[in-house]
Amino acid sequence: MANNIEFPEYDKDPNVKRQDFPPGFMWGVGSSSYQIEGAWNTDGKGLHIWDCFAQRNPAKIADGSNACVTVDSYHRMKEDVQLLKKMGVNYYRFSISWSRVLPGGKVSMGKNVEGINYYNRLIDELQANGIEPFVTLYHWDLPNALEEEYMGFLSTKIVDDFVNYAELCFWEFGDRVKHWVTFNEPYRFTYNGYVDGTFAPGRGGKNKDGKVEVGDPETEPYIVAANILKCHLVAYRMYEEVFKSIQNGQVGITLDATYLVPADPTNPDDIKAVEYALEFSFGWFMEPLVSGTWPKSMQKFATTPSVHHATRSLYEFTEEEKKKLINSYDFLGINYYTSYYAQLNEPLPGTLSDGYIYDMRYNAFGIFTDKHGNKKQIGEEAFPGSWVYLCANELVDLMIYIKKTYKVEKPCMITENGSPELNDKNKTGYEQVKDDTFRQKYLKWHLDAIRRTNALLTIDNITKKPLINGYFAWSFTDSYEWASGYTARFGMNYVDYNDNLHRYPKNSAIWFKKFLSEKKLGE
Ligand code: NOJ
Repeated sequence: MANNIEFPEYDKDPNVKRQDFPPGFMWGVGSSSYQIEGAWNTDGKGLHIWDCFAQRNPAKIADGSNACVTVDSYHRMKEDVQLLKKMGVNYYRFSISWSRVLPGGKVSMGKNVEGINYYNRLIDELQANGIEPFVTLYHWDLPNALEEEYMGFLSTKIVDDFVNYAELCFWEFGDRVKHWVTFNEPYRFTYNGYVDGTFAPGRGGKNKDGKVEVGDPETEPYIVAANILKCHLVAYRMYEEVFKSIQNGQVGITLDATYLVPADPTNPDDIKAVEYALEFSFGWFMEPLVSGTWPKSMQKFATTPSVHHATRSLYEFTEEEKKKLINSYDFLGINYYTSYYAQLNEPLPGTLSDGYIYDMRYNAFGIFTDKHGNKKQIGEEAFPGSWVYLCANELVDLMIYIKKTYKVEKPCMITENGSPELNDKNKTGYEQVKDDTFRQKYLKWHLDAIRRTNALLTIDNITKKPLINGYFAWSFTDSYEWASGYTARFGMNYVDYNDNLHRYPKNSAIWFKKFLSEKKLGE
């Protein structure tokens, strides 16, 4: 693939080996319920907000598609577990679909035994094949009944329902599941769901005339973020009090982290832009877990009455909540794909005239043109038009930033990392994408970055264990890529959408298998 600008350093082979990783390192691939399961109305499953969003708004999805069937993993569970086994992973990250186990969203509306049994069978099948489950409770598919009744995450009523759902999962599956992620990428679904309206529940986006038709992107995202964190903290403390001693598992959260570098490193405004951008994305959810408060720049801007009326919506956690929120994670999942340049936006804060809060603070882009017309590219671009640039060096910088800024003293895992092929599902055949050399290069360089991070950073000074102790490539198979529909293929395994959803390994899956079969440290 043609690149605008060459990145020769990534042309070498980093020569990364399994032996370079600490004992007990978790190796896996990931997926999520709506993206892979299909069976949208099978065996008593209730509707969720993505079922409704995609089916009602095909114009909001790149190819007008939905994931009613997608790669039908629900019906191919055994086959998929065999595929995982073939890859040689020792962990599989998947999510539970809330409306499959609780069709009405609430325990009081009744459990769906068939849905629960599906996950029981999946977990058992995984373990029978030597693979441990790594389970996300919420990967964006809220039961639609809760959206209809009280607007989902916009209401504090969500807290009881989420915690009851979490409790049910801990009871039903916690004897075997030892790693729980409460929320996947809260920033991404808050931003896309309530600021630009591109994800369910589709609030906040502007129409052709620049008017917001549904929701209020100035206030709603802040309310949603506070409610997500309340759900997280109550579920975390419940596990700690009720389940930890009997089940001995761990509860964490997965945050998306796009690293940013100043477009012009000599320009103090651009340096500020980086700070704002990181605080308004990763820091939005990380800072409360550390201090029980919102990031400094968010407090400054969102409470400046002349800027906008978000002053009413920046929730202040009570002293009790703060105490419970601080340190409410046993591990930190980080989804890292890429990095961008950041530049401070005009007009500057205080003179804003309309609209959005955070993306008015900065511009972010992968290719930056300076005032002399020179192009700079942040990393290697696999596919023109893809948002994923290969920026493995910046993963090391990101981890240093996280460690330094948030003083993290818990194990970290890279819970997602991968790159897509962009295509038309009807035109792209297995033969065309099988040799995914870019993906292999991308994965190898990120493993190298983890190895380098671990040589620099430890969890704490007492155990002195390396900071990162797990890696989950995204994704296990091609699947439904949200608003991009089937136009982006993130899978290490190809799925033929035209021929009975057959799965075939791309070369990256074969490479990963070989890598994982190498000697472990100490062998
Ligand atoms: C993050 C999300 O968690 C996942 O669902 C998505 O497919 C990948 N990023 C790629 O965009």
